[in-house]
Amino acid sequence: MTDPAIALVTGAGRGLGRATARALAQRGYRVVVAARDEEVAGAVAAEIEAEGGTARPLALDVADVECIRAARDTLLDEITEAWPESAIEVLVNNAGIGLFGPLADIAPADFDETFAVNVRGPLFVIQAFAPHLSAGARIVNVSSSLSRHVSPATSVYAASKAAIEALGRSLAIELGQRGIRINSIAPGPTATDFNGGAMRDNAELRHGLGQQTALGRVGEPDEIAHAVAALVSGDMRWVTGERIEVSGGVLL
Ligand SMILES: NC(=O)c1ccc[n+]([C@@H]2O[C@H](COP(=O)([O-])OP(=O)(O)OC[C@H]3O[C@@H](n4cnc5c(N)ncnc54)[C@H](OP(=O)(O)O)[C@@H]3O)[C@@H](O)[C@H]2O)c1
Repeated sequence: MTDPAIALVTGAGRGLGRATARALAQRGYRVVVAARDEEVAGAVAAEIEAEGGTARPLALDVADVECIRAARDTLLDEITEAWPESAIEVLVNNAGIGLFGPLADIAPADFDETFAVNVRGPLFVIQAFAPHLSAGARIVNVSSSLSRHVSPATSVYAASKAAIEALGRSLAIELGQRGIRINSIAPGPTATDFNGGAMRDNAELRHGLGQQTALGRVGEPDEIAHAVAALVSGDMRWVTGERIEVSGGVLL
């Protein structure tokens, strides 16, 4: 790790992305808080700074490839100015959306939107930033335990997460030539706004999903965030092209 290194987290305005941005800042990274809404990104960056970390906001809609490229250019200009001694060493593709519904209810537009955010987004974020990552950088794509096990009415979402895992495995070969590691973290049910906040707010669902895990409960955002932080640390330097589930042992 260069001192201090830069970590960029997408979808960092709330949920797992916000927790991951804070966890990386706690480990000494200068964090780029990327979110669709610049004000939201700014609020999380301010929160990190108030906690003693270093952060800056970046407006980034991963569903819009032109926006990705423009955000990349903006960021490179900004960090050349503000953090000239730092390299981008960590990229976390966390932004994602859920589409949950049975086969008969799936509309083409919903399918397209899910894949635009969950698959096309991370791919073009990686393409845009790869030339600017340091040798030995780490990329983490946030997948889902649902790429391994089946829940009712999750087909499109599960397929999008399986796709990002497959992309990661292929890109591990290409990017490994520069020592860049790329892995997927696959969370199980975790208490965030996701799926309307159901895993956080619906006690009955929390209990039911908790019963499906070896550890008996749903996860908390910090538990995913610290796993991401561990995965990008030097302790995991020989791990690439992998999918690591962080789920308390859901549906083993
Ligand atoms: N929570 C779970 O149980 C769970 C389980 C497995 C996997 N995951 C995955 O974990 C990741 C984070 O989810 P979460 O639980 O933190 O859910 P969340 O609270 O709903 O947060 C989703 C994040 O993704 C961002 N996002 C959505 N579309 C975007 C776009 N086009 N461009 C940029 N950002 C966008 C959202 O930004 P806005 O605030 O602008 O909407 C938000 O920051 C997702 O990839 C999700 O699939 C979650």
